[in-house]
Amino acid sequence: RLDPPTLPPVANEFDARLAEWRRDLESALAGLYGDAADSVRDALVERARAADAERLPELVDLDRARNASPYWYQGRQRVGYMAYVDRFGGDLAGVRRRIPYLTELGIDTLHLLSLLEPRHGENDGGYAIRDYRRPDPRLGTVDDFHDLIADLRSNGISLCLDFVINHTSDDHAWARAAAAGSEYHRALYRTYPDRTEPDAWEATLPEVFPNLAPGSFTWNDEMDRWVWTTFREFQWDLDWSNPDVMLEVADLALGLANDGVEILRLDAIAFTWKRLGTNCQNQPEAHLIAQALRAVLAMAAPSTVLLAEAIVGPDDLVAYLGRHEHGSERRECELAYHNQLMVQGWSMVASGRADLARHAISRLADIPDRSTWFTYVRCHDDIGWAIDDADAAHVGLSGSGHREYLAAFYRGEFPQSFARGLPFGRNEETGDERTCGMTATLAGVTAALAADERGGAHDAGGLDRAIERILLLYGIAFGYGGIPIIYMGDELCQQDDTAWAGTPSQAGDSRWAHRPAFDDELAPLRHDPTTPTGRVWAGLRHLVETRTACLPLHDDGATVRMFDPGNRSVFAWHRSHPRFGDLVGLANVGDDTIDVVAHPELRPEAIDLLAPHDPRPWRIAPRQVRWISADADYATVPAPPSG
Ligand code: GLC
Repeated sequence: RLDPPTLPPVANEFDARLAEWRRDLESALAGLYGDAADSVRDALVERARAADAERLPELVDLDRARNASPYWYQGRQRVGYMAYVDRFGGDLAGVRRRIPYLTELGIDTLHLLSLLEPRHGENDGGYAIRDYRRPDPRLGTVDDFHDLIADLRSNGISLCLDFVINHTSDDHAWARAAAAGSEYHRALYRTYPDRTEPDAWEATLPEVFPNLAPGSFTWNDEMDRWVWTTFREFQWDLDWSNPDVMLEVADLALGLANDGVEILRLDAIAFTWKRLGTNCQNQPEAHLIAQALRAVLAMAAPSTVLLAEAIVGPDDLVAYLGRHEHGSERRECELAYHNQLMVQGWSMVASGRADLARHAISRLADIPDRSTWFTYVRCHDDIGWAIDDADAAHVGLSGSGHREYLAAFYRGEFPQSFARGLPFGRNEETGDERTCGMTATLAGVTAALAADERGGAHDAGGLDRAIERILLLYGIAFGYGGIPIIYMGDELCQQDDTAWAGTPSQAGDSRWAHRPAFDDELAPLRHDPTTPTGRVWAGLRHLVETRTACLPLHDDGATVRMFDPGNRSVFAWHRSHPRFGDLVGLANVGDDTIDVVAHPELRPEAIDLLAPHDPRPWRIAPRQVRWISADADYATVPAPPSG
């Protein structure tokens, strides 16, 4: 690990941090609350000071270590794993029992999906929170939660947790009090006596769940009012223009940080600020909210970082990491999902061409030195086909045509499609359709195994190609830079859960197809290299070990540039670190073997870290990824993967 040994305490640590972060807080609050900003600041600082006083000694030690090594989340050894508590371990104690499994895989960052006490009844997979101060009682007690965090920490694993800040559930204490007539609590939400305002807002609001929950407002009988509900009808949007929301939410954030959560995932941050006449996403104030929370946490719990869950178009993405217009920088989220890389990865394997991806990603601004990406292939949500019209036009495609093609390809519409995905959130008016499915199911494993079962004349290499696609996509996610995240089940080549459609609480929401329970029968096969599970496991282990040995994959000032390798089927990127050398990544997304092109970094002494013994001159087989390093000092070839 890169963390230095614990340092001796400095006097007045809180005051030093207050001095460092005060201006960030003040400028954010001035932009959000105008004249009220000073009193909000005072109230927030008071809360931060109280939280600081209550911080556990072991967390204070962590704060001190990280104060000396602030970019701990940028290390090349970072590898994440994303899972639901119930699906992965049954409950919190069950997740604890799986720590050795995580360690065997090489995980040091565990992202547990929403686990706080959810709404009774339907709860959008846990994203309608009833009580932010304790876990879902079905998963365990507050003590179980603390025991898990302590165990993770002692095994070198940082916990990332969802923090749902756009809305609460309709049975949260605030919502109950609002419904019962409390003025204070009603003002935490956005409610309206009649349709006048909702109609005015809806004129420009897109629907997030057009089939599950049409419209963005829900009538509430108790209050005799409409409530703003962007997502499901039981998820009540908070009114962030009310400073009391900031105070209440900051309190909850400090509580989770003091529980020992190291990464807070700001759920649906893009939706937090509403502005009439807009789509109410990515408003400048959403960034100020993140900046204010960043500053408050930095004062009291400096080892906590923020992850933006902003699944937005390429033009809006980098701002969540604090890069704003004309290159100006602000301190807001340290981490953000690289959903462009994810979407472009799936677009590349469907189309066999990398030119669109290279162009789209090359347009992203450089991220601030203090930030990095969460790179991923799949997660618990649907894939929204965030292909920009202008990017598509640049390579001669129609944006809407390509988006429609991808949705149809991944639901297995075309004879050449290897995917068996499911449609999600189809909007008949706009034609927009998203896609669900586990990586294995989308990459071709399900179709290939079904063909095998049917026997007869079928495409013999189908399964091999499907596994190669999985490793191709993960090879890009692991070699691009940032924290690569393995979505639970992908390491076992686990396919879709088919039971969801017959489960009343899940039917209608095809995202449940890719939220299966951890497969205890598949897991032992990870050590059998003749099985798809064993092959994917070994492939991922190889990526983990190679990555750990590769210094240019450290962030903190590294840049990534796309380049044109002279072939439309090759996704090519060049990472350059100011101190740790360079890495060239080449991924062949097409079906033909290709000669490796000339590139200044491909000097005679360069090695392919993923296949160090391949003879020169290099060629790249279909679906192969190469990570080429010219700096032998910086990148060592790892030992062969261990099981
Ligand atoms: C995020 C979650 C998603 C949820 C939504 C509303 O996008 O990832 O699962 O439905 O927020 O909370």
